[in-house]
Amino acid sequence: MIAAYFWWDSARRASLADEQGQTSETDSAGSSAGAGNGGGGSVSAARTRPDSEGPDHSQTGNQSPGTAVNSPEGSTVTSSSNNAASTASNGQSGDGEGEQGSNNSPAASTTCKKGVGYNDAKYTEKLDICWGYNWASSGEIKQGAMYVPMLWEEKSLEGWSDNAKKAIEAGATHILGFNEPDLAEQAHMSPSKAAELWKSEIESFSSSAKLVSPAVTNGVKAEDGSPMGVPWLHEFISACDGCTIDAVALHWYDSAENTDYFTAYLTEAQAKLMKPIWLTEFMGTGTPEAQKKFLEFAVPWLEDQDWIERYAAFGCFKDNEIANFIASDDGSLNELGQAYSGAK
Ligand code: BGC
Repeated sequence: MIAAYFWWDSARRASLADEQGQTSETDSAGSSAGAGNGGGGSVSAARTRPDSEGPDHSQTGNQSPGTAVNSPEGSTVTSSSNNAASTASNGQSGDGEGEQGSNNSPAASTTCKKGVGYNDAKYTEKLDICWGYNWASSGEIKQGAMYVPMLWEEKSLEGWSDNAKKAIEAGATHILGFNEPDLAEQAHMSPSKAAELWKSEIESFSSSAKLVSPAVTNGVKAEDGSPMGVPWLHEFISACDGCTIDAVALHWYDSAENTDYFTAYLTEAQAKLMKPIWLTEFMGTGTPEAQKKFLEFAVPWLEDQDWIERYAAFGCFKDNEIANFIASDDGSLNELGQAYSGAK
């Protein structure tokens, strides 16, 4: 059963609207508003989340037999193996997507940006991506793509350190911080709490990988006045003195019509944060046709911005009602998945 919920609650929309000097009245999910206002329109996008597919973040360390990346050619979805790092396999066609084949080395894959967040590795199989993450610290991914481990929140600590080490040994060049700590339903944490956890659990990896900040929503302020989005990140960066933050992770959800808001939001965030951006979840909400049009706009734009280091569309699921790239269990792509996969 798919439990779905709308994560943009009305309070949050109200805060966002207030920031923009707009009324807090918003339409139902997915309606268009605020286009072109340059960073935080009257956000009314909604996302449904396939909870039943998602990992239990309190046990991410034990979820799968190990970390898997870049394994030698042969199997479809790769499985754990430290010696995988010795083989620079590349299961993808030479279509200019970058240097996937050499992404076992930390210096590699400077040009390929396209990835995906997923819960089930078999659904990464047919996507033309060079990296991915599963909101966990260990897992599998299609051959030739780099698995990037994430510490989702404090409750995901079991196994974290070992799993992150294994992922790095197997070729992961980066580590991802907490997931949406600015949102009550996700890794909910204050910036100072997150800074503490970063110092104790993540900072030590700075000698062996690049560190990507906690990933924040495109909110601005919660109902209780606490910061969200870029303001949350600012507070986190101030609180995390002495921390190595090589790139910042952002999420973006809004109507597929709001392409001006999409580009302005990211451009302004980068100007404020002055770090390379990893857009680790994004989606233009609307009908599949509208989502497709959005992706066909967004991907080339993301490719063109040299400060966008990586991006991952939200949609590598089969049974999610609104974010769905997968047509069948073998990972075949539906039209939307093909649009994301093929866009350049
Ligand atoms: C959640 C994950 C979940 C994923 C897909 C993310 O935002 O943090 O727990 O697996 O969405 O539903």
